[in-house]
Amino acid sequence: MTDFPKPAAKPARPHFSSGPCAKPPGWSAEKLATGSLGRSHRSKLGKSRIVYAMELSREILGLPSTHHIAIVPGSDTGAVEMALWSLLGQRPATMVAWESFGEGWVTDVVKQLKLDAKVVKAPYGQLPDLSQIDQSTDVVFTWNGTTSGVRVPNGDWIRNDREGLMIADATSACFAQDIPWDKLDVVTYSWQKALGGEGAHGVLILGPRAVERLESYTPAWPLPKIFRMTKGGKFNESIFKGDTINTPSLLAIEDYIFALEWAKSLGGLRALIKRADDNLAAIDAWVQKAGWIDHLASDPASRSNTSVCLKFAPDAGQGLDEEAQLALVKKMASLLEAENAAYDVAGYRDAPPGLRIWCGATVETADIEALGPWLDWAWSQARG
Ligand SMILES: Cc1ncc(COP(=O)(O)O)c(C=O)c1O
Repeated sequence: MTDFPKPAAKPARPHFSSGPCAKPPGWSAEKLATGSLGRSHRSKLGKSRIVYAMELSREILGLPSTHHIAIVPGSDTGAVEMALWSLLGQRPATMVAWESFGEGWVTDVVKQLKLDAKVVKAPYGQLPDLSQIDQSTDVVFTWNGTTSGVRVPNGDWIRNDREGLMIADATSACFAQDIPWDKLDVVTYSWQKALGGEGAHGVLILGPRAVERLESYTPAWPLPKIFRMTKGGKFNESIFKGDTINTPSLLAIEDYIFALEWAKSLGGLRALIKRADDNLAAIDAWVQKAGWIDHLASDPASRSNTSVCLKFAPDAGQGLDEEAQLALVKKMASLLEAENAAYDVAGYRDAPPGLRIWCGATVETADIEALGPWLDWAWSQARG
């Protein structure tokens, strides 16, 4: 086995967590605007910051005027739950899952809402055959599977004349991948991912067909206040115009605004996507050289440029069962953390044993390049 030396140079920022992700370069708490803190979120100032955050999000994401955007409670999970509980049940549903978060939505719909949904699954590292999905049903899927590093390559498989709603959890895709808004009726994300914001709040985006569903259908089950998007049977648009359902963290909003302004200063979405793509290319160049590691996502076309998941190459994992591989990952992660060379690089707890390196735009490519030799070193230390 190759013995890799301890590298001399460390990543300048060893933050490679897949959520909360690295803060934007140059971020510091002192740089946040604090004028709205300690004020009512319904004051002119408080509301203006909420509206500004949503307008800037709309601009950077390239969201068409047909789509509504709101800050909602409960981070991305809250946004997805709001959509599932408010919209599903009118027509049959198809739940598409290929990793842990997608499977979580299956559980919700099948076990909690008790809908007789069709479940379409693929194992970790693969994508199901999207062309087989029945688009006369409501379809729920995860745009970028954060725990397997497999993403939907594009929206070409989605019909413009679909009868059902397309509901996408895009939390680890927004601000790093192109999202075809006209093909999606509901999109959700949280700030803690590709922009390095904080947890707590989610963003819910609704297209016109989702609004139509809200106004033409009332679920058979009760809806808590926190999920309610209609008032007297009509779409409550004020939630999408800065009147949040309940009190948001204005500090988290200021932090999100910092990240959005940083993104805009770089050149917006194209620049963000390029940074993530460059990071994926840098990881890939190292993987091709390392010899002991491989991508979990088998098809490069659906390989994530944000949550890059890696597994041990067959030769490298020789003789190690899953438990031993997990122990190896744990050891590597703690060696790297102790050296302040890399934080939070172990794969997700439910995924096959391996590493997961966040490559979204807030991570610098130079840091990804500096990380490779440290992973080699940790591997030879832990294996030795
Ligand atoms: C695809 C996906 N969905 C949902 C979540 C949950 O997000 P949150 O913790 O922001 O609710 C995550 C978090 O990693 C995720 O990656």
